[in-house]
This record gives sequence, C-alpha cells and structure tokens, in this order.
Amino acid sequence: MEARSPPPTPNQSKDGGVIGELLQTLRLFFSAIFVGIWRFFVPPPKKSVFGEVVLITGAGSGIGRQLAREFARLGSVLVLWDINKTSNTETAKLLQEEFQAKCFCYTVDVGDKSQIQSAAARVKTEVGEVNILINNAGVVSGKKLLDTPDVLVQRTFDVNLLAHFWTVKCFLPSMLKNNHGHIVNIASSTGLVGLNKLTDYSASKFGVVGFTEVLNYEIIFSGYKGVHTTLVCSSYVKTGMFAGCKMRYPWLLPALEVKNMTNRIMQGILTNQYVICIPRLVYFLAYLKVVLPVDAFLEVVKFFGAASFMDTYVGKETNSLIHQNGSS
Ligand SMILES: NC(=O)c1ccc[n+]([C@@H]2O[C@H](COP(=O)([O-])OP(=O)(O)OC[C@H]3O[C@@H](n4cnc5c(N)ncnc54)[C@H](O)[C@@H]3O)[C@@H](O)[C@H]2O)c1
Repeated sequence: MEARSPPPTPNQSKDGGVIGELLQTLRLFFSAIFVGIWRFFVPPPKKSVFGEVVLITGAGSGIGRQLAREFARLGSVLVLWDINKTSNTETAKLLQEEFQAKCFCYTVDVGDKSQIQSAAARVKTEVGEVNILINNAGVVSGKKLLDTPDVLVQRTFDVNLLAHFWTVKCFLPSMLKNNHGHIVNIASSTGLVGLNKLTDYSASKFGVVGFTEVLNYEIIFSGYKGVHTTLVCSSYVKTGMFAGCKMRYPWLLPALEVKNMTNRIMQGILTNQYVICIPRLVYFLAYLKVVLPVDAFLEVVKFFGAASFMDTYVGKETNSLIHQNGSS
C-alpha cells in the first residue's frame, strides 16, 4: 500500500519566462514518452489492494461480478451495489464461499441520486471509507433515436453517466483527504467511436470519457499523487448486455470473454494505468477517427460492422423489464 501523505498544496507555477517553461515542458514531455514506452515492455509493479475497501456498482452480474471476484481473491473488502438484490446477493455468496471475502451488499438504483447519497452515507458508517470506487453499472436501450422513448434516454444518462458524478462526489473527498484512492470508470469503445442504434448509450459513454479525463486533470493539477483514475474502453464482451449482437469479423475483432477482459482491467488498476482500451485495436480506431476525413473513417467503421452490429440485438431480460416500465 502506498504511504499516505498529508493533502498537498496546489502546484505553484515558477516564473522562468516562456523559454524556461517551454524547456521544462519539453523535458517532462519526452520523459513521459520514454516512461510510456518503457512501461509498454516492462509493466510497473502491481500495488497491493489487500484490506482496501472496494465499492463496485452493478456488481450483480457480468463485468462487475468478475471484478468483485478478482478483488476478493486479493483480499479486499467488497462493497457491492446493484439494483437487482437477488443477483447482488448471489455475488456476495459466491465471494464468501470461494474466498471467505468480507462483503457488504446494498440494493441501490444508481440512476437515482438520492439513493446513491443515502447508500453512500450507510457505507461510510457501516464499512468505512471507500478506497477504490468502480463505476460499472450500465444499461442500454439499443434502438434508433426516433424509436427510443424519452424515459429510456433519460435513464441511460442517469445510470451510465450522471451516477458517476454523484458517486465520485460522495467518495472522492475522503480519498483526497488521505491522498489515497482510485476511481475506475467503465466506459466503452463506443465512448470513443460510436455505433448505430446507440445514440444515448454512446453519448453517455463519450460523457464518461470526458468526465474521467477532466476529473483526472483536477486531481493531478491539484498535486494529489496518491489518488488515481482509470478509464476502461472495451469493445463487445460476452456478458449478455448485448445479447444477440454479432461481430462482423470475429477473427479481427472477437467478442471478449469476461475473464480475459477483467484480467486486463485488473492489470491496469493495479498499475494505476490511466486508460485501458480492450482490445488494443480500439486505440488505433480512435486515432484513425481524428486523422482521417469523415467519409474515409465511415468506410472503416462500416467494415467493422458499425452499421449492422445492433441489428440482431436482443439484450437481457432485465433490460427489457427496465424498458417496459421506464424504471424497475
Ligand atoms: N458487455 C459489453 O459488451 C460491454 C462493453 C463495453 C462496456 N461495457 C460496460 O460495462 C459495464 C458492465 O456491463 P456488463 O456487460 O457487465 O452488463 P451486465 O448487464 O451483465 O451488468 C450490469 C449490472 O448493472 C446493474 N444495473 C443496471 N442498472 C442499474 C442501476 N440503475 N443501479 C444499479 N445497478 C444497475 C445490473 O443489474 C447488472 O448487474 C456497463 O457500464 C457497460 O456499459 C459493457
């Protein structure tokens, strides 16, 4: 575990003139490039999360449940949030049986700010300060914009994006106070490169990308070296969230297994990586998007199936319940 140091004071800019500042910037720029290349070949040592309090939203299934297993294996204390009480309790049971993990379950609709705030207050009293916050819960509507009821658009933003604001506002202050903590936001490759029939989902994930980027700036520019952020942008994972969808060329961009995907996320979290794109091809597509003419990039995304991926979408039973009711 890193040494906890007192809250730092904000960086003071030194008055060395423009040339001095430029030279300093170049020095730091090239050393960051060197470190980046070095780390590509020699990953930094993993930090210990033993005894750390890890809160995971959407812990009842898929990626959330598997991340909970990984942290339980490493001896963390798990705080599990999900809207689905049954599946969340199943996750806790699984972790207790497999790892004798210490788990605390809370039934929370993260699309509701007041539920987040009251659950956070309970966590602080019943468990203690959260050291690692993983914003993972997510929903998908999977329809073209004109076919998407307003209530689903609203819900997608509430759950996939606004929830991050409210959870971070609840748990970041103690992380900053101790200069120790980590916020992990599970976005998506569709937060970098959009897909057909995902206007609300994709826009919410673009929001998570921007939110995490600026949150990271705020933490770093304030001089907190012990508080980290990690943004995860992954392509299609076989969890059932996108049940029915098919990759156009699976040999090129295969559907990911949950275990492989969470192994990559764990590697990134334990080494304080800022951004994790899974697979690496996602970095390349995001790069192409900013350098190619729009029409040329359209041909690239069409080739990868952006126009047709969602045509066979069925989704989860829980999704359709949310869709029918507008809430659950
Ligand atoms: N599956 C993919 O292909 C894929 C790809 C990239 C990113 N992601 C993202 O990964 C995250 C996890 O997705 P998953 O594939 O494990 O899906 P999943 O459906 O298996 O799990 C989502 C969990 O979130 C919970 N949840 C939904 N709404 C909630 C709410 N309002 N409050 C609390 N909990 C709620 C669900 O009950 C479920 O347990 C999501 O943010 C998703 O957008 C998924």
